[in-house]
Amino acid sequence: MARPKIALIGAGQIGGTLAHLAAIKELGDVVLFDIAEGTPQGKALDIAQSGPSAGFDATMKGANDYADIAGADVCIVTAGVPRKPGMSRDDLLGINLKVMKSVGAGIAAHAPNAFVICITNPLDAMVWALREFSGLPHEKVVGMAGVLDSARFRHFLSVEFNVSMRDVTAFVLGGHGDTMVPLSRYSTVAGVPLPDLVAMGWTTQDKLDAIIQRTRDGGAEIVGLLKTGSAFYAPATSAIEMAEAYLKDQKRVLPCAAWVNGPLGLDGLYVGVPTVIGAAGIERILDIKMNQAEQAMFDKSVDAVKGLVEACKAIDPTLA
Ligand code: APR
Repeated sequence: MARPKIALIGAGQIGGTLAHLAAIKELGDVVLFDIAEGTPQGKALDIAQSGPSAGFDATMKGANDYADIAGADVCIVTAGVPRKPGMSRDDLLGINLKVMKSVGAGIAAHAPNAFVICITNPLDAMVWALREFSGLPHEKVVGMAGVLDSARFRHFLSVEFNVSMRDVTAFVLGGHGDTMVPLSRYSTVAGVPLPDLVAMGWTTQDKLDAIIQRTRDGGAEIVGLLKTGSAFYAPATSAIEMAEAYLKDQKRVLPCAAWVNGPLGLDGLYVGVPTVIGAAGIERILDIKMNQAEQAMFDKSVDAVKGLVEACKAIDPTLA
């Protein structure tokens, strides 16, 4: 059977890392696409030349023409600009919206059957715009945010508890921004919820609150340290986890920015929710019950996302 084809739209920091991970995990043959000439070709060649030592079978191709993504099974979109220190994700809206328009047209023309994972920020608005511009089915277009935000939360918790990250599960919902909603009640160490761990004396509520705030600021902390760009190793790894769930029909339960029309009281919005990813794309959305405080945080996050969608419509009237 032919290997799956993975198209990476954007061959920058995240795009290059995605290609490397896809190769090492042998998820399929990779096409790196970018408007910058030479960058995707150079990265493709460099990664291909790591193959003999890493021991993978996958081809790597760099491209500046959308025709090269033809028939892709998965497209992962990082095209656009990242944050610089002092910028919020929302500051990227105007520039990256234009980028989504050209990417959406390219995918619609050459890879209309792909499962599309958007990483470009501000995430919830960009995945919505990309879906609108591409016209692909909602269940095949999804945003990567919750897996990354949850991974950050899990990492910080594992350090606090001095336990393996593998035994820490965490749920982070809502928009990928300052209003994201880490759900302590649904976050556990081997099934023991965080509030119980506070009661057991493993940590204090103050320390937990600080970890939650650090999770919310997780992206900004890295932007502040790097100074010239934003995080790329963890974002790429998170998107690869989602792509693998689709390609291998794993039915993974992963928080993603998915189209929600019905569950959680929403009537048509891209926002971070728990989903099941399998061969059909987003196969299910978990209609979890939130308590009053959680619901209030989620509502605030939903409002922030709606505001960004309205801002997109004001910039590009074809979206209205
Ligand atoms: N079409 C294709 N590629 C584009 C386009 C376009 N219209 N516009 C820009 N690019 C390319 C750039 O040439 C660059 O190689 O997108 C790439 C972006 O790479 P980086 O600047 O290294 O950014 P990266 O760190 O990979 O982040 C990409 O993901 O997490 C988000 O906020 C982040 O929006 C940013 C995106």
